[in-house]
Amino acid sequence: MSHKILVIGDSGVGKTSLIQRFINDEFHTYVQGTIGIEFHMFKVNLNGKEYKMQIWDTAGQERYRAMTTGYYRNAHAVILVFDLNNAESFNHIRFWLGEISTKSNRDCTIFLVGNKADLLHKITRKQINQLVEKTTINQYHEVSANSSRGTDVKKLFNTVANLICINAESPKSNSPNSSLEISPSAKVELDSSKCC
Ligand code: GTP
Repeated sequence: MSHKILVIGDSGVGKTSLIQRFINDEFHTYVQGTIGIEFHMFKVNLNGKEYKMQIWDTAGQERYRAMTTGYYRNAHAVILVFDLNNAESFNHIRFWLGEISTKSNRDCTIFLVGNKADLLHKITRKQINQLVEKTTINQYHEVSANSSRGTDVKKLFNTVANLICINAESPKSNSPNSSLEISPSAKVELDSSKCC
C-alpha cells in the first residue's frame, strides 16, 4: 500500500522546488508553474519494514483548483507551503486549511512549511506560532529549497514519512502539535517516477 503526501499552497511559494530538492537535490531559479498535478514516489525503510510514499505536487494557480480537488481524498499527510518572503501567501493559510477540512476524507496530519528561509522574512515567528496554536496544524517547519545543502528539506520529508509510518503502525499517535524525532533507522530510498 502507498501512503499519500499532498503538497499544497499558493502559486510560486516553492512546492515544486521543495520536491525537486528532495528527490533530485536540485534547485532552479526558473521553474515552470505546475499544471494540474504531478506525482513522485519514494520508499522508506523503517525498522526493516518498507513503506511506499507518493508525493502529489499540486498547482497553486486558481484556474487548476477544480482539477486538484479529488487529490485531497485519502491523503495521509498534507504539506501546506507558504513563502516567508510573501505575506499574502501566509494570509491564505486559513483558506488552504478550509480546503483540507472540506475536501479531505480522513484525519490527515498537516505540516505547515515556511519556504524561502534564505530570503527576508516578512512574517514573524510570533505570527506563525499564533496561527499554529489556533488551527489544526500539527507541525511547523522552516526550510529553503535554495539552500545548497538542502538538509532542512530532507529532514522535512523524513519527518513526514516517519510520522506516516508510525501512524500506520499505531493510528492513535497523531496528536496535534506533537514533535517527532527522526528515527536514525529510517532510510529514504529515492525511487522517483514522475508522470502527468
Ligand atoms: P505553482 O506550480 O505555480 O503552484 O508554484 P510552486 O509553488 O510549485 O513554486 P515553484 O517551485 O515553481 O517556485 C516558484 C519560484 O520560487 C521559482 O522561481 C523558484 O526558483 C523560487 N523558489 C522556490 N523555492 C525557493 C527558495 O527556497 N528560495 C528562493 N530564494 N527561491 C525559491
